[in-house]
Amino acid sequence: MRTRPPERHELDPIEIASRDEIAALQLDRLRWSLKHAYDNVPHYQAAFDSVGVHPRDLTSLEDLKKFPFTVKDDLRKNYPFGMFAVPRQQVARIHASSGTTGKPTVVGYTAHDIDNWAEVCARSIRASGGRAGDLVHVVYGYGLFTGGLGAHYGAERLGCTVVPMSGGMTARQVQLINDFEPDVIMVTPSYMLAIADEFESLGIDPRQTSLSVGIFGAEPWTEAMRTEIEGRFGMDAVDIYGLSEVMGPGVSNECVETKDGLHIWEDHFYPEIIDPVTGDVLPDGEQGELVFTSLTKEAFPVIRYRTRDLTRLLPGTARSMRRMEKITGRSDDMLIVRGVNLFPTQIEELILDNASLSPHYILELRKDGPLDVLEVLVEARTDTSDTDSRSSASAALSNQIKTKIGISSFVNVLEPGGIERSGGKARRIRDLRQA
Ligand code: DLL
Repeated sequence: MRTRPPERHELDPIEIASRDEIAALQLDRLRWSLKHAYDNVPHYQAAFDSVGVHPRDLTSLEDLKKFPFTVKDDLRKNYPFGMFAVPRQQVARIHASSGTTGKPTVVGYTAHDIDNWAEVCARSIRASGGRAGDLVHVVYGYGLFTGGLGAHYGAERLGCTVVPMSGGMTARQVQLINDFEPDVIMVTPSYMLAIADEFESLGIDPRQTSLSVGIFGAEPWTEAMRTEIEGRFGMDAVDIYGLSEVMGPGVSNECVETKDGLHIWEDHFYPEIIDPVTGDVLPDGEQGELVFTSLTKEAFPVIRYRTRDLTRLLPGTARSMRRMEKITGRSDDMLIVRGVNLFPTQIEELILDNASLSPHYILELRKDGPLDVLEVLVEARTDTSDTDSRSSASAALSNQIKTKIGISSFVNVLEPGGIERSGGKARRIRDLRQA
């Protein structure tokens, strides 16, 4: 690959500090954050009081488990600004996540929070192999979604030239990538594939573009997808993670030299993994639900926020901070089909294993009487779209799903272009069972 990872002297000292130094900083900041939340947000005061804990009960990092969790519903109940820990006049920016039903989740940032956010996003771009002077093409949506502005401020902070493109208008994306010759692109992995298709439909090999690094996140994606994107663009594909409630993009990021999971920027975000059923804290290495406590946020501190994202914590490699494994999926996106648990990413891996299928797909669930029916809608690759190869690809995938996952399914192989493209997060599930 073309990318040069940063040298040690280019890193923030805390990225390569000892574990003891990191833990000492975390304890200091955690004490501040718990007190700040308790003193300024009625919800946290009531929640702590109801289980009889006070910020001064935290004398070690271990003690955090005595404090109550925060869930999305707590944010909804305090809509719009009830979780803010500073007067609204001190909030410099508001973002919101759409939420499929009901009210959006509103989050706020002081000027200092935005400064820290720019810092962790700059760190993330640098970990991905970007550097000052690079041209960064930002395709994440600008607006209430945190993706565009988060990436934008990070790239500016690193000293890059930013193209604030936002999502959609695929032909225009391709034109500007050709004309401006960016080094780095920041986009959802599913939309990157739509950009690749557009290049190919114009007879341009995406490997000939100037792009050397792609920073992909905002949705789950697999190792197989990494191989696909790296192969088609001849670039390094690196994973970025984050969520609005905790900050936005830049909570954790992979390092281009190892690509072995995402280093969590633990000086700002304290991670825990819990058993999603019992709420017990699990040791590092065990799979469970990711929980975050913010360590520096002023406007919108979060204490033990349950992300619903499933992963595990691993020791640091390229940096001293711990890693989280690539996200398998959200507990909300876990489908239960005839009693078998299923994440869309499991199907994605099998699709990418089949040379005649492209990773544009959607899982549709229906009821046939009392039984669940899973239909996988997936596109054929351009070069294998005749009827015969489509039906053999369909049989092969259905067979793989049966043997590897244990679910019977119908596989409907569509013409290239048959699945609707989204300029942002892909919608992988259409659940018609309730309808
Ligand atoms: O998606 C923030 C973001 C923007 C992250 C751009 C990375 C890049 P939300 O809209 O609040 O924020 O959605 C957060 O998206 O809880 C995960 O379920 C999912 N998600 C985000 N990044 C990844 C990733 C932004 N790298 C929710 N892998 C999170 C898997 C991800 N899932």
